[in-house]
Amino acid sequence: MEQKNVLKLSCPPLDEVRIGIIGLGVRAKRAVHRLINIEGTRINGFCDIVPSNTEEAQRILKDKGLQPVKEYCGENGWKSLCEQKDIDLIYICTDWESHTPMAVYAMECGKHAAVEIPAATTVSECWQLVNTAERTQKHCIMLENCCYDSFELTTLHMAQQGLFGEILHAEGAYIHDLRDRILSNEFGKRLSNWQIRFNTLHNGNPYPTHGLGPICQLLNIHRGDRMKSLVSMSTKPVGMNLYAKEVYGEDSPEAQFDHKLGDMNTTLIRTENGKTILLQYNVSNPRPYNRIHLINGTKGYAQKYPVNQFAFSPHSEQVLSPEQTNELLAKYEHPFLKETGRKAIDLCGERARDYIMDYRLIHCLRNGLPLDMDVYDAAEWSCLVELTEISVNNDSHPVEIPDFTRGRWNQ
Ligand SMILES: NC(=O)c1ccc[n+]([C@@H]2O[C@H](COP(=O)([O-])OP(=O)(O)OC[C@H]3O[C@@H](n4cnc5c(N)ncnc54)[C@H](O)[C@@H]3O)[C@@H](O)[C@H]2O)c1
Repeated sequence: MEQKNVLKLSCPPLDEVRIGIIGLGVRAKRAVHRLINIEGTRINGFCDIVPSNTEEAQRILKDKGLQPVKEYCGENGWKSLCEQKDIDLIYICTDWESHTPMAVYAMECGKHAAVEIPAATTVSECWQLVNTAERTQKHCIMLENCCYDSFELTTLHMAQQGLFGEILHAEGAYIHDLRDRILSNEFGKRLSNWQIRFNTLHNGNPYPTHGLGPICQLLNIHRGDRMKSLVSMSTKPVGMNLYAKEVYGEDSPEAQFDHKLGDMNTTLIRTENGKTILLQYNVSNPRPYNRIHLINGTKGYAQKYPVNQFAFSPHSEQVLSPEQTNELLAKYEHPFLKETGRKAIDLCGERARDYIMDYRLIHCLRNGLPLDMDVYDAAEWSCLVELTEISVNNDSHPVEIPDFTRGRWNQ
């Protein structure tokens, strides 16, 4: 029997979106704070295997004058939360390898699933997400917040109005010196350091979606084009272990790991329509934060990092001045920013993108609209976790990228 696809899926509008949250660590506690400040939401359940994390989340509700909600602990508590009747959306903020099983179970229990990045760590998991969303006709959104950052949204708006002409090439990255944060288990709430564990077992790019998501939107991936193949290359792993030894001492417990993950990963992707993407990842070396976000079109050019730059034909050798750049960004400000920008900044400061992401999710669910990002986006962006590793392990051999829409990428 052919599965019914979920392209442009719309579901019956929800008057109020009732939410259950799994994994109340660093990320989710911020989400609780955001979600209770969005009209039309109600949190109805929490689950974490560390009881102090649920307690802290309950305190956020209390501080807002809200009643405590049902909470679950234990290894399988998350299943009970997914089964709870008065929930429409399961919001998943656990470690990477639990994302897919939880999202799949949530949809099987008749809930929509919102899942932190990456939504999956293997191609097989990506198919599980797609197959389950299609079978249950439920939404499965990956919470890629960088798609809602102001420069990304505004350049998308500009691209949709043709300012860059045909976009032929784009670049993105997640370059963030996380040595201290990862090694120190900064927030101390993690049950184990799952990030180190993953990185001792895997190579390639384990976190591709921050750089890739906004670029795929610019290139209309599965909305007229599709990513076809990639080649990937990594340096040897040095930085994380060297830093651990320097900071904590050669014999310290913090330094007792053997990273497989190369420090710097570079991936090149080719699309069906002859476009290219360059994607980079590095969290292990001393470098300023950078997601690149570079757009190379037939009429214009833009780049977010290290400084915002624009240039347009025929004066392309000269970038716009800072004043012209600001004028341009104001002129083409994306409607989402206009609608939510002030509240997002007041509530979340430089993390405004997180608020806009949640606001849009709730808005679409309450109005029965297709979500901004669908399960095919989640699968296409997340499958690079495994595919980059395969290419790296095979001397950068080209690897095919599956068409998760089963031939509908051009519809
Ligand atoms: N989009 C972003 O900008 C961004 C930023 C930070 C983290 N993240 C993502 O958010 C996720 C969580 O990151 P974090 O830094 O909050 O990690 P964390 O370790 O602080 O939080 C994870 C939580 O999940 C809980 N947990 C683990 N297994 C569980 C289970 N079986 N049942 C219930 N609870 C369980 C842990 O106890 C912990 O409280 C990751 O996927 C990470 O990549 C995204």
